[in-house]
Amino acid sequence: MAEMDKKKVAEAALTQVESGMVVGLGSGSTLAFFMEALGELISDDFTVYGVPTSVKTEKLASKYNIPLVELTDDLVIDVTIDGADHIYEDGSMIKGGGGSLVREKIVAMHSQRNVYISDASKLSKHVAQVILPVEIVPFGYKRTQLTVANQLGAKAELRMQGEDPFISDNGNYIIDCYLNDTGLLNRVDRQLKLLTGVVETGIFTDLADEILIADNEEVYRYL
Ligand code: A5P
Repeated sequence: MAEMDKKKVAEAALTQVESGMVVGLGSGSTLAFFMEALGELISDDFTVYGVPTSVKTEKLASKYNIPLVELTDDLVIDVTIDGADHIYEDGSMIKGGGGSLVREKIVAMHSQRNVYISDASKLSKHVAQVILPVEIVPFGYKRTQLTVANQLGAKAELRMQGEDPFISDNGNYIIDCYLNDTGLLNRVDRQLKLLTGVVETGIFTDLADEILIADNEEVYRYL
């Protein structure tokens, strides 16, 4: 059961955290289990400081009494734990299913180590359709959406929340691009980021130091 796998892998990731560490806190349902477990560890003898990657994570950190710090110029993030939506064999990933890709990528870029935790359903061999989230600025979004779709040769849909566009924590829109072939992810990422109006893509390459996967309640190291 996916929920139990998320819990198991989240608990396994706790071994990555030592007292005194600054921990990047990713976003999503797997991270919610991780934060709950991390919160239970915190005591007078075990302190950590979290750097949240979304407003939702910020709220969860407060619920589980995990103190937060700001990502200042001299802060060292010892390790970041985050989830993923699509994991390729070489450790590249697609993220942003929850809309937190920009902050997740910023925190990952400035972290000493990045550990991704997920369940086997996110491995590329089990994912039928590749959906790449791209964050874009709201101004002129229809044109940017079209430009991105043409660049990728793929359908690009504006993400909605009910009747209205989904708004990211950064006040932007997200378009979900339905890819047939991801080709070289690094190249796709660079091409998209050259387009005016594009803020960031959900392509995460060369960032994962370790990937932990839970399958049928067994946790193993995938990367
Ligand atoms: C958030 O924008 C995403 O990148 C999440 O990290 C990703 O969607 C993983 O979420 P789950 O843990 O809910 O699968």
